[in-house]
Amino acid sequence: MTAPKKLFIKTYGCQMNVYDSERMAEALGGQGYVETDSADDADMILLNTCHIREKAAEKVYSELGRFKGLKADKPDLKIGVAGCVAQAEGEEIIRRQPLVDLVVGPQSYHRLPDMEAKTRKGEKALDTDFPEEDKFEKLKSRPKAARGPTAFLTVQEGCDKFCAFCVVPYTRGAEVSRPADRILTEARDLVDRGVREITLLGQNVNAYHGAGPDGDMTLAQLIWALDGIDGLERIRFTTSHPNDMGDDLIAAHGECAKLMPYLHLPVQSGSDHILKRMNRSHTADSYLRLIERIRAARPDILLSGDFIVGFPEETEADFQATMDLVEEVGYGYAYSFKYSTRPGTPAAERAQVDEDVKSERLQRLQGLITRQQRQVQDGMVGKMVNVLFEKPGRFDGQMVGKSEYLHAVHVNDAGAQVGDLCPVRIVSSGSNSLAGEMVRRA
Ligand code: 5AD
Ligand code: SF4
Repeated sequence: MTAPKKLFIKTYGCQMNVYDSERMAEALGGQGYVETDSADDADMILLNTCHIREKAAEKVYSELGRFKGLKADKPDLKIGVAGCVAQAEGEEIIRRQPLVDLVVGPQSYHRLPDMEAKTRKGEKALDTDFPEEDKFEKLKSRPKAARGPTAFLTVQEGCDKFCAFCVVPYTRGAEVSRPADRILTEARDLVDRGVREITLLGQNVNAYHGAGPDGDMTLAQLIWALDGIDGLERIRFTTSHPNDMGDDLIAAHGECAKLMPYLHLPVQSGSDHILKRMNRSHTADSYLRLIERIRAARPDILLSGDFIVGFPEETEADFQATMDLVEEVGYGYAYSFKYSTRPGTPAAERAQVDEDVKSERLQRLQGLITRQQRQVQDGMVGKMVNVLFEKPGRFDGQMVGKSEYLHAVHVNDAGAQVGDLCPVRIVSSGSNSLAGEMVRRA
């Protein structure tokens, strides 16, 4: 028997890339690869890249440059670039960095085994098409390897919204939903392998409209179908657009016990002028009214969001409107970024806000968000939550898991096992996590 070949995947960016990397590892498993966590002993290195941050392509080129020595020592080493930078740059990657053997866009991962075979013949392999097939259906996973208690499941990819700052509609393509039966089969398989919590992924997940038995299904209908799977205890989804929060999805937050009380609903800015220039097609007020309806359905829901500061033309008054909106909502988590240009997107061509102004605004916004996060986290002390334990903690007998609100919670309890879902009373709030005590039923 030949020794297995080793695959090193470095994943950047969002959860969708984490999910994709798992699927790529499984697909290449069929070619005799096992994963390694070191580039040094790999027979194939794959960079699963993200294009959402600034100078993403330049960072990939400099990372690739570092593999020069490795490839000189081991000429059989294959180097591949996957993900959104692969999609955006395409052939240019091989032109600029000839040590790259393979470039594969996010819609072509099911072709990876054939592409790998091509590289073994000494040829370059490039695929950045947007094929019609369901790549995940083709990327059949290896049978029944045990899994941890939580998993991601991609249900939808791409986006038709064309926010003026964003590359996703260009790198991930048009919005496509997977058929419901395939998602349900994959979910049942995950549950058979030990998964108790599934996070449904999509760039615009609440625009989901995959084929179901009686026509297209909404995300809420898909969630209700998943709710029927025995052994699946928790359902989450991310990322949503405010305009796609349908009535049935809002209602599900109040009615579906397996749907967790956490919602990531990016607003990006609190200024109507900036929202318009961002092509967001909602206003600050329509967002706030939406939040009110969601909270009416599920009063304890924890909200999170994304914000961009220093978008072209943003004035101090526009920025202040963002601060006001944050004050009004009260986020449990929020992610904020300085606007940075993405070549090819409309906002990249506009007059830019001064870098120092952006930094100063970001600092103020992050200060406010951090205070809010702390307040929400500290407010959990004394409350009862349910914790799904994911791994042992740093100390002996300690276990760490997540509450329904996605807070990390650790308990000292020698009896707790990975995969247990237990009632816990929160006793204190630390910088990044909560401490709790198991509640034993009499
Ligand atoms: N500049 C800064 N932040 C951006 N995001 C997307 N594109 C840009 C950009 N050009 C942020 C948005 C989005 C999150 C995933 O990344 O807030 O919701
Ligand atoms: Fe990008 Fe999200 Fe806007 Fe789509 S909705 S263009 S993914 S920011």
